Amino acid sequence: NDGRTDKMIAKIENGKLNIYNLDIDALASKFNFSGGQIKDAISSARNFAMVKNPENPAISMEDLYRGCKAQSNKSLSAFAKNIPPRYTWEDIVLPKDIEAQLREVSGYIKHKGKVYTDWGFDAKLSLGKGLNVLFSGSSGAGKTMAAEVIAKESGLDLYKIDLSTVVSKYIGETEKILRKIFLEAETSNAILFFDEADALFGKRSEVKDAHDRYANIETNYLLQKMEEHEGIVILASNFKANIDEAFLRRIHFAVEFTSPEEGLRERIWTHIFPDDTPINEDVDFSFLSKFKITGGNIRNIALNAAFLAAGDSSDDVRMEHIIRATKREFQKMGKLCTSADFGEYYELVK
Ligand SMILES: Nc1ncnc2c1ncn2[C@@H]1O[C@H](COP(=O)(O)OP(=O)(O)OP(=O)(O)O)[C@@H](O)[C@H]1O
Ligand SMILES: [Mg+2]
Repeated sequence: NDGRTDKMIAKIENGKLNIYNLDIDALASKFNFSGGQIKDAISSARNFAMVKNPENPAISMEDLYRGCKAQSNKSLSAFAKNIPPRYTWEDIVLPKDIEAQLREVSGYIKHKGKVYTDWGFDAKLSLGKGLNVLFSGSSGAGKTMAAEVIAKESGLDLYKIDLSTVVSKYIGETEKILRKIFLEAETSNAILFFDEADALFGKRSEVKDAHDRYANIETNYLLQKMEEHEGIVILASNFKANIDEAFLRRIHFAVEFTSPEEGLRERIWTHIFPDDTPINEDVDFSFLSKFKITGGNIRNIALNAAFLAAGDSSDDVRMEHIIRATKREFQKMGKLCTSADFGEYYELVK
């Protein structure tokens, strides 16, 4: 492995370390580190050994392995962002059946051991033990929020992969990064959340040039990884129709997030403001629910309305602020503010 072993040995001898059971080859083949990373890995291994036995801090293979893992976790964070899940079932407002589907996903995670191991599905059917979930639906419908709810409920870490940084223009790089991400997810038992999955999971193109051929190889690689992976993968896409058939066949749950109906919008409106935000009595949530917008739009409007209120030195958020913020959100969406929509508040948005 291209001198990696030698590099590690040099570092270790340099540090005059007392290491037993040393198997440098094993480490060097697992971790493709730079000199600096090796140094850091060794120094965290030394810390682990110190904590275990301060009198005689001999570094074991186990310590070194942990040190290396800590380093590779660090490199993972360049491509995958750890999202501390904030939301619970109380926060997310969805049609009954969609919520039921999400609870089934959650139940799958919870009862995997029982069904596969205790009840023997494992031995009887040679299924992939992983779980692949697709969330589709328009922007702001609550896909990221739902991933957080599931992570929180199951107590697993949630890693959001920024595909724009992963899909590299350098041949071979994307696969290397993906391999790293999946390996790390396996050892840390994390949920992998591929946002804007269309970038990689999209329909494979006809091969017209070398670049197309290369993009297809990457997609095939990802498909294979997803199939082998024993953990949980959530893909989010704005358009289900854009997702490659071969991916869809490997999906265990496909959850389609629809735009909320008026009744749900009213529940989102009434829950969106933090408890500490003072709301004036003139705010008419049932009027606001008539606007055909998503939860994401409502979140933006609520936040902007709070800033408008603060800017006015107002003690609380009033209907006027929310209406003005709605106008801004409409402008962003390229939507006209009509008197039919805004009724008695039309004067504020003209
Ligand atoms: N169903 C919902 N119930 C309650 N709040 C919601 C809902 N959908 C969206 N929101 C609010 O809108 C914000 C943005 O939603 P989220 O990021 O989950 O949308 P998304 O579907 O992931 O959008 P995108 O496709 O743009 O990533 C949430 O943080 C939340 O405040
Ligand atoms: Mg999202």
